[in-house]
Amino acid sequence: MKIIMLGAPGAGKGTQAKRIADKWQIPHISTGDIFRANIKEGTELGKEAKKYMDQGALVPDELTVKLLLDRVAKDDCKNGYVLDGFPRTIPQAEVLDKALAELGDTVDFAVNVDVPDENIINRMSGRRACVSCGATYHITYAPTKTEGICDRCGKELILREDDKPETVQKRLEVYHKQTQPLIDYYAKKEILKTVDGTKDMEEVFQDIVAILGA
Ligand code: AP5
Repeated sequence: MKIIMLGAPGAGKGTQAKRIADKWQIPHISTGDIFRANIKEGTELGKEAKKYMDQGALVPDELTVKLLLDRVAKDDCKNGYVLDGFPRTIPQAEVLDKALAELGDTVDFAVNVDVPDENIINRMSGRRACVSCGATYHITYAPTKTEGICDRCGKELILREDDKPETVQKRLEVYHKQTQPLIDYYAKKEILKTVDGTKDMEEVFQDIVAILGA
C-alpha cells in the first residue's frame, strides 16, 4: 500500500505516519527527517537544506525529488510505504506519479489530516523533538515520563528551530500557497481521504484505520 500524508505543518502527519508504518509494516519516509539527519551529519545536502528550512521555506525540488525517488526504489519499499512531507508541490506530485506509472503502479491513498491554522501555532510551540533519535512529543498532548528527556533513548529534547512562532507563520503561508493545491490534485484522482486532525491522536488513528481498511 502506498500512502501520502497531507496536511499543514504540525497537523499530525508524522504522528499518524509512524503508527500507519507500524501497523502495516511498511517504511515511514519523511523528507523532513531525511533533511534533519543530513543537517546533523553536516553533509552538503544538509548544509544546503538548512538554509531553506530555518526560514520556513521549501527546499528546492532539485534537491528533494531525486532523494525521494532513490529512497522509494529501495528493497524495503516493495510492499509499499507511507510518505510524510512529500509531495509538497504539484511538480513533486507529478514526478512521483510519473515514476510510479513507469512501474505500472500508483498511489493508493492521500490522507489529508485537517487542522485549522489557529490550532497549529499552539501545537508547534509545544512540540519537543529528540536531538538523537528524532522521536517527537508534545508537552501537553504527548508528554515524556521525565520532562525534557526522550522516553526512547534518554537523550535531550529540543524545540525545533523551525517551530518558533515566527517561522511557523511563514511555514503556514508556504503550505497554503504551495502544498494545499495538492488536496484538489488528489481529489481529482479520487484517492483523497480527509480526517479531522483536531481530534485526539488515537481517534485520528482509528479514523485512518477505517479508511485504509484494517
Ligand atoms: P517536515 O519535517 O515535513 O515538517 P512539516 O510538514 O512542516 O510537518 P511537521 O513535522 O512540522 O508536522 P507534522 O504534521 O508531522 O506533525 P507532528 O505529527 O509532528 O519539514 C520540515 C521542513 O523540511 C520544511 O519546512 C521544508 O523546508 C523541508 N522539506 C521537507 N520535505 C520537503 C519537500 N518535499 N519539499 C521541499 N521541502 C521539504 O505533530 C505536531 C505536534 O502536535 C507534536 O508535538 C505532536 O505530538 C502533536 N500532535 C499530533 N497529533 C495531535 C493531536 N491529534 N492532538 C494533539 N496534539 C497532536
